[in-house]
Amino acid sequence: MKKAMIITYGCAMNVNESAKIKKMLMNMGYTMTETLEECDLVFLNTCTVREGAAVQIYGKLGELKQLKENRGAIIGITGCFAQEQGEALGKKFPTIDIIMGNQNIGKIPEAIDRIETGNFKNVVYVENKDELPSTLSAEFESKYIATIPIAYGCNNYCTYCIVPYVRGRERSVPMEEIISEVKTYIDRGYKEIILIGQNVNSYGKEKKDGSSFSKLLIALNALEGEFWIRFISPHPRDFTDDVIEAIAVSEKVAKNIHVPVQAGSSRILKLMNRGYSKEDYLFLIDKLKTKIPDIGISTDIIVGFPGETEEDFLDTLDVVEKVQYENSYMFMYSIRKGTKAAEMTEQISEEVKNERLQRLIKIQTLASKNTSNNYFEKTLTILVEGESKKNKEMLTGRTSTNKVVIFKGTSEMIGTFVKIKVNECKTWTLYGEIV
Ligand code: SAH
Ligand code: SF4
Ligand code: F3S
Repeated sequence: MKKAMIITYGCAMNVNESAKIKKMLMNMGYTMTETLEECDLVFLNTCTVREGAAVQIYGKLGELKQLKENRGAIIGITGCFAQEQGEALGKKFPTIDIIMGNQNIGKIPEAIDRIETGNFKNVVYVENKDELPSTLSAEFESKYIATIPIAYGCNNYCTYCIVPYVRGRERSVPMEEIISEVKTYIDRGYKEIILIGQNVNSYGKEKKDGSSFSKLLIALNALEGEFWIRFISPHPRDFTDDVIEAIAVSEKVAKNIHVPVQAGSSRILKLMNRGYSKEDYLFLIDKLKTKIPDIGISTDIIVGFPGETEEDFLDTLDVVEKVQYENSYMFMYSIRKGTKAAEMTEQISEEVKNERLQRLIKIQTLASKNTSNNYFEKTLTILVEGESKKNKEMLTGRTSTNKVVIFKGTSEMIGTFVKIKVNECKTWTLYGEIV
């Protein structure tokens, strides 16, 4: 029995593509394992959004060299770092057999075949950046939660970000294809469908055939069955009124809305090429909170963008205090070669970035605590996901707003919606009982 492992870094798009690679490997007769030493094949699915990624990947490739020497395992690399580096990676690391761009993962079986049967040194497929990849089936970690890409690539060119360069121009998947894929998963018993893309609410724009994100949400909401729809990530600039309205009227659309702010200062937002000011952003948040009662908002924030002054940073803290995010993904700015911000002269020292990050985390943790307390004694519907990792006697699930709830229940409840009354609120977790 041949054994394989996929090591995944990066965002939901990479996790989704790993699920597709897993399916292909299983179809080829591989069994998946968690033990690296027994692998006959390892695929690294890489990310390149921050500088640290390279160090991590090189470290892993070092470990894999050993595995190759010991048992002749096949080593493949895919994801954004592989797409970015291309053939050069093979020259640097002769351990690697297969270099596969994001677009080409469908060719993995063919590439493995070529390595197994021929004397190919490396098989490299990194072309076709701007085409729509073919729809592939996936083997997800959960039997209840599926992610579905609705668009690939990004046209935004935020000045700090490498994604448009490695993932190509924005290409939306035709609406009928998405609807039919969602239907397939719902029929198989999936309860949560997460629509993914770099900028989901600009979905359909480039097609100029009338398809749009709001129409897609409304169409999916109309499908039969009990399920939730989530989406990541929308862009504040593309939160048009029709999108807000569609979320508000679609009872199947879960009410955690991720609204990446990136920075609070209008001056920095301009340098980032984000297309909105601090005031525009706060206006949008007010509108979302008014139109969508019981909304939970989360965000992404970068500290220490080139030229960020103490005053600019205070604007970020101000936004965090005003919005009261339930959760934030907070990053220190990281230089990505090839982006505009990498050329900016006023780079901020690691020390200042780190100090700002720590201050931001403190303010955000308070906001998470405050928003968590709002759930006290509320009765909510949650999707039960499985046993709690910390305490196998308990089950874990998430609210529509994406808050984790721990409670006592029975195993038949896993993969169903139940009603819970919250009786304790910790910063990141709620505790409750079935009602
Ligand atoms: N398309 C999504 C996700 C992009 S990458 C979006 O626009 O929201 C995920 C997050 O990584 C970004 O939201 C941003 O906060 C962060 N990020 C991207 N490039 C970065 C960089 N050079 N340094 C630090 N953080 C970065
Ligand atoms: Fe990067 Fe901006 Fe596109 Fe997100 S929207 S992927 S941050 S360029
Ligand atoms: Fe990373 Fe690529 Fe996603 S760079 S964040 S894996 S799109």
